[in-house]
Amino acid sequence: MATRTRLVAGNWKMHGSRAANDALLGALVSGARELAGIECVVCPPFPYLPQAADRLAGSRVGWGAQNLSEHGSGAYTGEVSAAMLVEFGCRYAIVGHSERRALYGETDTQVAAKFAAARKAGLVPILCVGESLAERESGRTEQVVARQLDAVVDASGADSLARAVLAYEPVWAIGTGRNATPEQAQHVHAYLRARVARSDDGIAAGLRILYGGSVKAANAAAIFAMPDVDGGLIGGASLVAEDFLAICRAAEGKE
Ligand code: PGA
Repeated sequence: MATRTRLVAGNWKMHGSRAANDALLGALVSGARELAGIECVVCPPFPYLPQAADRLAGSRVGWGAQNLSEHGSGAYTGEVSAAMLVEFGCRYAIVGHSERRALYGETDTQVAAKFAAARKAGLVPILCVGESLAERESGRTEQVVARQLDAVVDASGADSLARAVLAYEPVWAIGTGRNATPEQAQHVHAYLRARVARSDDGIAAGLRILYGGSVKAANAAAIFAMPDVDGGLIGGASLVAEDFLAICRAAEGKE
């Protein structure tokens, strides 16, 4: 089986200030010195990316964006292109987060276009998929995540997942304190990996699939112990250095 280096990514959402970020980034830089064998990344809001780039230079903590435009350049007021992110040294971009899909109407097609734009510019997209509570309760979880994944695979091909990360984030678990059980997460992760394997076994085996949704220091180790869970996408707990570092340490638990 391919070795998958675990990844813990912090999604700061619309939180932060120069002063708060400075303290958080500083604590992460020193705490991350102890980490080995995993990758950790933070995704601050756009205006703070240069601050993150500065503060994290030479450290074990990488950084990425929370979103990007599907367009290259042009009359798209308020948008940020992949090339602009790359110019600042950005490596990752979250794509298709459920808040973008639900609050800003991002469609599967648009998410697939953002994914393609990120890859084309050399960014590693972190593609989020996940079902709502109503979808889970009506037994449609697999159908929903398959549709979200297929939109990207159909547009960019399964081999585009070779330089990408997938994140399973059940919408009902985000910011609710109600996380999926490790078994629920494993079930969907294994389903997603098998779906990619239908197109390409090798890419499926190497694909990192993160779990996101109320991951805390207290539940991280049990979730990360699942064989198809390769790390986490962390919202609330990524804003507190000790909590995020504790989650990173939990991710160190297995190779
Ligand atoms: P949460 O958010 O950890 O606060 O539930 C996760 C996410 O939205 O990526």
